[in-house]
Amino acid sequence: MSLTGNVALVTGASRGIGASVARALAAEGAGVAVNYHGSEAAAQAVVAEIRAAGGRALAVKADARDRGQVEAMATEVKAALGPIGILVLNAAIGFPMTGFMDYPWEAFEAKILGEMGAAFHGCRAVVPQMLERQKLDGRGGAIVAITSGLARNPGWGFCAHSAAKAALEGLVRALAFELSPMGIRVNAVAPGLTLTDATAGLAERHKQAAAEHTPLRRNGLPGDVAEAVVGILKAGFVTGATLPVNGGGYVF
Ligand SMILES: NC(=O)c1ccc[n+]([C@@H]2O[C@H](COP(=O)([O-])OP(=O)(O)OC[C@H]3O[C@@H](n4cnc5c(N)ncnc54)[C@H](OP(=O)(O)O)[C@@H]3O)[C@@H](O)[C@H]2O)c1
Repeated sequence: MSLTGNVALVTGASRGIGASVARALAAEGAGVAVNYHGSEAAAQAVVAEIRAAGGRALAVKADARDRGQVEAMATEVKAALGPIGILVLNAAIGFPMTGFMDYPWEAFEAKILGEMGAAFHGCRAVVPQMLERQKLDGRGGAIVAITSGLARNPGWGFCAHSAAKAALEGLVRALAFELSPMGIRVNAVAPGLTLTDATAGLAERHKQAAAEHTPLRRNGLPGDVAEAVVGILKAGFVTGATLPVNGGGYVF
């Protein structure tokens, strides 16, 4: 699958993994919509960087959990860049790190609904544009959901995150089954511990321990995940797959 001339929407692309994915897709020649929720200046900086390198990009504000905002975003991106052929579901839905017996149901529910809502609304808003592309010239589309190693391997305090990301991986396989015959591949990329704002608060000894238990002996970087997203997007016969990006470490 060629990324050159394609149009990508990356949710939660103002910072961290999403920003890195946006830059990588633009470097491959795709026009990129940089979705943000609160960090407008950071999103505009990503866009400016892409444009300075000769690429096409647009910053779009939307809460990925909100159907109306996501639909409006998809319409705006199509008008500005053309029909979307690549959707990267990346927006980080927050959650408290708490043991199961103390986990407030409201926080658990908000995490599950937020993660599912962002995936459901994102796909429902964008898939019609991919089908349109498929009908027009057979270019179809591809969806990549950023899940987590924690979908399969537990960690203390992560029960809601593990459950939400496992549900997301289930949805990825279900959508791959339904949409691939229509020219839309659906895959997951599952990072291990990756150094971003989301993990900045983790104790240094925890990060070091993770690196020591990782065969490649370091923590992940946003660029590692971006490389994997580009790779799985280009792999035209891969659908319904989950690609771990964890240096061979399967604990975090
Ligand atoms: N870092 C890790 O160790 C790790 C490991 C496995 C999986 N992941 C997954 O990788 C993805 C990115 O995580 P990250 O570490 O890069 O996070 P991050 O550095 O904290 O960045 C979070 C991004 O998500 C956006 N976001 C948050 N809520 C949003 C919403 N409701 N609507 C739209 N955008 C929203 C933020 O936008 P604003 O700032 O504009 O609000 C920001 O761009 C997440 O799905 C996360 O679960 C991360």
